[in-house]
Amino acid sequence: MKKISLKPNNDYCPQTLFLYGTYDENGNPDFGLFCWFSYTWDSELGAMCCIGGNKTTRENIERNKIFSANLVTEELLPVADHLGCVSGKSPDKMKIDLDIGKGEVLDVPVLNNSPVIFELEVTDFIKKSDCVIMLCKIRNVLQDESLSSDEPVEKKLARIAPVKTTAKTYFGYDGRNMGTWGEPMKRL
Ligand SMILES: Cc1cc2nc3c(=O)[nH]c(=O)nc-3n(C[C@H](O)[C@H](O)[C@H](O)COP(=O)(O)O)c2cc1C
Repeated sequence: MKKISLKPNNDYCPQTLFLYGTYDENGNPDFGLFCWFSYTWDSELGAMCCIGGNKTTRENIERNKIFSANLVTEELLPVADHLGCVSGKSPDKMKIDLDIGKGEVLDVPVLNNSPVIFELEVTDFIKKSDCVIMLCKIRNVLQDESLSSDEPVEKKLARIAPVKTTAKTYFGYDGRNMGTWGEPMKRL
């Protein structure tokens, strides 16, 4: 296949989306939307993520060292898009309809409507000029009971329908276009 060389981009590399849940210094929950999330292996499964610039999520994680990562599904997409497009500095950001619970092991806010939630503790902060890379221990995985059934994995995935993103566009589990960043929140 003939190739062309381009500047750094990841347009054809879809990423899974997570909502990171943190508490601010007054105990108020904040959620932000993130895709730079992947996994590590160091005797056990871990997570790694990158937050660019100054964000409420970053400030809260640097203070508390713990957060939740809630898998984004098609059902959650309008709120997820809002939480990714509105800064935690905006006083109205969290004034939307969210079913917020608490982690089972860590003191972190979680989204009860997400089917898979990691409770994460940061072990390493790698600070660069404009971002922080965080290596995390997975202290708990809160997973919908229904995902433990012996239904085939493809059926379970199609049922929970995780959303992917690339090229500033959201894609449903079956690959259909679910709008560009900033569009799904208009349905709220
Ligand atoms: C689809 C999508 C993915 C995003 N992924 C990241 C990411 O991986 N890292 C990052 O630093 N910001 C990411 N953002 C931006 C944050 O979600 C955004 O700055 C948000 O307002 C942060 O919320 P906070 O201010 O409450 O922390 C993403 C935004 C969108 C719309």
